[in-house]
Amino acid sequence: MRRARGDGMRRRRRSRVAAAGLLGLAAIACAAVSGGPGIDVGDVTYTEDLQPIFLDKCGACHAGRGDGDTHFAVAYADMLRDSRRCPGQLEYQCALTLVEQGLMPRDAGCTGAVGVDETISACLGRGARDLLLIWVNEGAPE
Ligand code: HEC
Repeated sequence: MRRARGDGMRRRRRSRVAAAGLLGLAAIACAAVSGGPGIDVGDVTYTEDLQPIFLDKCGACHAGRGDGDTHFAVAYADMLRDSRRCPGQLEYQCALTLVEQGLMPRDAGCTGAVGVDETISACLGRGARDLLLIWVNEGAPE
């Protein structure tokens, strides 16, 4: 009898802790997407947020090497040029287009599906994809 009550209390405590953890995660997710207390979407910039991602995931080809005739991982101005690969888009818009299609980073096995891509280290994970989307929608601030 006593033992059963004790087990019940332990279980309840555990589920309260789990619930608190989930609420915490939800709060962080909301902050990232809606500009809650954590992140102001207007504050997502090339210099602070995207360049580190570009250097990491795209830099091998788009820094010194200049594949596709663009050095956008080190030259912000290149992002504002007309894209050759995506007619009618600027390069920063084309960057999102190609990532969403799984075509960049090139030959890395990316699919464009976030759930799959975040399991492949060469591809953009969920956080990086969110930042890229917000940044492009904000007009790619420097
Ligand atoms: C392994 C080398 C490689 C990597 C890594 C790579 N790219 Fe590329 N990228 C290329 C090549 C080659 C081209 C030109 C041929 C083509 O368009 O496929 C290109 C073209 C592009 C273009 C078109 C430029 C234009 O003027 O239209 C964009 C945008 C681009 N890449 C974005 C990215 C982004 C964003 C990443 C990282 C998330 C990335 N690339 C990673 C090789 C790479």
